[in-house]
Amino acid sequence: MGMESSARSGILVVSFVLLAFLNISPAAAGGEGEKVLTLDRSNFTETVSKHDFIVVEFYAPWCGHCKALAPEYEKAASTLSNHEPPIVLAKVDANEEANRELATEFEIQGFPTIKILRNGGKNIQEYNGPREADGIVDYLKKQVGPASAEIKSQEDANSLIDEKKIFVVGVFPKFSGEEFENFMTLAEKLRSDYDIAHTLDAKFLPRGEPVDKPTLRLLKPFDEQFVDFQDFKVDAMEKFIEEASTPVVTVWDNDQSNHPYVNKFFGSSNAKAMLFVNFSKEQDSFETKYKDVAILYKGKGISFLFGDVDAGQGAFQYFGLQEEQAPLLIIQNAEGQKYLKANIEPSQIASWVKDYVDGLVKPFIRSEPIPEVNNEPVKVVVTDSLQDMVLNSGKNVLLEFYAPWCGHCKKLAPILDEVAISFENDSDVVIAKLDATVNDIPSETFDVQGYPTLYFRSSSGNLLPYDGERTKEDIIEFIRKNRDGHADLVSTESESVNADSVKDEL
Ligand SMILES: *[C@@H]1O[C@H](CO)[C@@H](O)[C@H](O)[C@H]1NC(C)=O
Ligand SMILES: *[C@@H]1O[C@H](CO)[C@@H](O)[C@H](O)[C@H]1NC(C)=O
Ligand SMILES: *[C@@H]1O[C@H](CO)[C@@H](O)[C@H](O)[C@H]1NC(C)=O
Repeated sequence: MGMESSARSGILVVSFVLLAFLNISPAAAGGEGEKVLTLDRSNFTETVSKHDFIVVEFYAPWCGHCKALAPEYEKAASTLSNHEPPIVLAKVDANEEANRELATEFEIQGFPTIKILRNGGKNIQEYNGPREADGIVDYLKKQVGPASAEIKSQEDANSLIDEKKIFVVGVFPKFSGEEFENFMTLAEKLRSDYDIAHTLDAKFLPRGEPVDKPTLRLLKPFDEQFVDFQDFKVDAMEKFIEEASTPVVTVWDNDQSNHPYVNKFFGSSNAKAMLFVNFSKEQDSFETKYKDVAILYKGKGISFLFGDVDAGQGAFQYFGLQEEQAPLLIIQNAEGQKYLKANIEPSQIASWVKDYVDGLVKPFIRSEPIPEVNNEPVKVVVTDSLQDMVLNSGKNVLLEFYAPWCGHCKKLAPILDEVAISFENDSDVVIAKLDATVNDIPSETFDVQGYPTLYFRSSSGNLLPYDGERTKEDIIEFIRKNRDGHADLVSTESESVNADSVKDEL
């Protein structure tokens, strides 16, 4: 799969927007590294099997975030080669045909993806750490150590527990027994996601009362500040930690320490409610009302985010929104449909969310304005004109879904122009294009997984994807064969087109 079909899932796109926005990846692409091992299919298994702990980055040469990561990853590899024992960093070009199988085996869905492989590759863990050199080093040093650290004193607690982060502690009367063993199993499982420790005495911990039986205590920088839990079954603990570590309302502002929660919010499969206001002006008047609503729907499949208009610009761009619409409440359901209430007032939040839940709010469909002038050979279609110009037009329409940044689309543009010109005297044939990055596409009608995607709809309503060669001749031939209506009026003169220059490389 090439870059131009990588805009598959909304979540992927959002996380790209976020990465760009949260400044996780500093600029500057670097050259080839020396400390980072290059692996491919021929030596991957052999190399990995020799290491108790090895870190592997799956990347693609065209991926911008990978280029940004490269010098940081190399720097980290260099520092960590002096660690005792050395920590080895490796990379695999997952775009390389021969390595695709590896990428599939490791379920790589986006680039870069970093995995930590333990015990000669027997245990695989997601890398969820930072992407700059110092952060990578700190994170991996922690990962190579024990999954749970022991807190023996106040000093241990002070140095381990970051007040601005979630911290999981097991408090035990003794470090043995089923509860303790389950806790350690869980710690191993969740070590890449949470900071975890165990102690014999809760008095060292910054919050909560001493306890006299095994207790799982989750410390958090929001809501109740800490929660205790006493069911030591692994599944139950895992569920508890997941729930207790999700804020009732995720706050998205310029405070970096909130950003892991923002990423988690966008990674959730819940419906997502997002309220954007100008924090310097209106934070207080909205926050309480919004939180009340969030509490009301807790555990009912909706996650709530409260964002500063300033911090949320990436999201505004992604959803095609305007800052003038703030205070703005937008809900995206699990199917990706959006519901929007612009210029909302605090007193309207509860009733609007209830209307949404009751199915009374109409989905918001994004469209560019219908252009006033549309006299180029290839006609411009937007979501709001899709019915009139394509679906109900009674014409034979070839429609291209494109993205402005897509190279294959740029190559196709002059060819579509020529196709359109060759049909210029045939009023029953329309060649059209729709910018799919700023117009929502009815997914029940069109399956657009990459750009460009071409569909042909005959005047009688027969809808066909166009998968042929992207040459003038082939496209014209296809339209002639599949169109409805009267005799063929197309000029039969054909001009030579260099087919090699328009071959699809995907
Ligand atoms: C693995 O093989 C590739 C070429 O096939 C080579 O470039 C690379 O250095 C090898 N890596 C190791 C660790 O041997
Ligand atoms: C938010 O409000 C402040 C204070 O009124 C104003 O200076 C700022 O421009 C506003 N920001 C946005 C993004 O509207
Ligand atoms: C369309 O008609 C005009 C005027 O008759 C003519 O000049 C032009 O060549 C025709 N175009 C094609 C593609 O046949």
